Amino acid sequence: MSRTHRVAALLSLAAIAAAASSLGLAQAPPSRIDLNAWKIPAIEALPDSPDSRLIRHGHALVTETFAHIGPEVPDPAKRFAGNNLSCQSCHLNGGSQAFAMPYLGVWGSFPQYRARENEVSTIEERVNGCMERSMNGRPLPLDSPQMKAMLAYFRFMSTGVPVGGQLIGAGTTPIREPDRAADPQRGAKVYEEQCAVCHGADGLGVRNGKVGDAKGYQFPPLWGPDSYNTGAGMSRLLTAAAFVRANMPFGVTHKEATLSDDDAYDVAAYVNAQPRPVKPDLDKDFPDRSRKPVDAAFPPYVQGFSAEQHRLGPFNPIRAKLRELNEAARKKN
Ligand code: HEC
Ligand code: HEC
Repeated sequence: MSRTHRVAALLSLAAIAAAASSLGLAQAPPSRIDLNAWKIPAIEALPDSPDSRLIRHGHALVTETFAHIGPEVPDPAKRFAGNNLSCQSCHLNGGSQAFAMPYLGVWGSFPQYRARENEVSTIEERVNGCMERSMNGRPLPLDSPQMKAMLAYFRFMSTGVPVGGQLIGAGTTPIREPDRAADPQRGAKVYEEQCAVCHGADGLGVRNGKVGDAKGYQFPPLWGPDSYNTGAGMSRLLTAAAFVRANMPFGVTHKEATLSDDDAYDVAAYVNAQPRPVKPDLDKDFPDRSRKPVDAAFPPYVQGFSAEQHRLGPFNPIRAKLRELNEAARKKN
């Protein structure tokens, strides 16, 4: 099926669902689920079966990605990831941690509209988004054993989470944005005091073993050749600040976050000002420009704003301009 056909098919499914609900055929009201309190299904308790083996393989793939599909695995055909991070470097604790982009419930939240592609995308496409950007690698074939195992793991992690429920703790939680540009120099101080002890003064992290042995990191790199690339969600200031405030220094959770909003804003600016692999063709992202995030710091830029302001803020003036442009476009149509 072509992309347009697929989208059309999904839209007509949505129409059927809407019709069903107007006939009173469907559904209890959507529930609110607090993922902080969600009981994580226990992998160890799974019986031995083909299904369980698939789920366990999925768990291994997301927690030790470098050992299975990393750039240092012996079989070149399996080198899908371009760096030695694991999915868990960001999706903490095997994707079970609230506000660290957990996998809990993701099974039921796809297909979903994504502004980056301006299309409805599937969970497989989302995984490959992280493969090509966060992991700086190449996409996993849809019918590959690795993709199947990851999907089985996501479905397992979503067991019992109602589809359509409101999930508290999904994604990350935004910082309260300071009304100023981020200050990377101030961020450098925060980095030195709060991050360098684990991630290294040079940001290159600490390996578990030696270069070439596919053992990944004790503390992952935050920049340099083995880090996420310039197209990754984490390379955007507000995404990185939100993740860092809720989850770093490692061990905190968003409930007892220790960094201030200002510190998270500045340290994220410092980290993302450092060199990292460059994703080609970023100008093709967000084909509907009106939906491009204000902190996507690559061209084309919103009329009247500099690359620097997209990189560091302040973002409210950009949002105001976008509203104005969208309003004008609506009136013209
Ligand atoms: C460098 C950090 C990082 C790494 C490593 C990473 N991701 Fe992500 N991932 C993110 C961020 C940030 C988001 C959400 C924000 C965005 O980019 O839209 C996300 C979103 C996702 C989502 C959608 C979650 C949702 O709630 O809709 C899935 C699924 C996912 N990633 C899978 C993976 C898999 C599988 C891997 C490993 C192959 C991986 N990610 C590696 C940062 C990362
Ligand atoms: C106590 C050690 C420790 C400290 C201090 C710490 N981190 Fe981390 N950080 C980690 C670990 C460990 C991970 C990966 C988690 C995993 O693999 O399970 C991580 C992951 C990350 C990631 C996502 C993965 C990547 O490589 O990009 C970012 C971004 C990050 N930390 C930023 C920071 C920032 C900014 C600070 C300072 C405010 C900080 N960390 C302080 C240990 C630490």
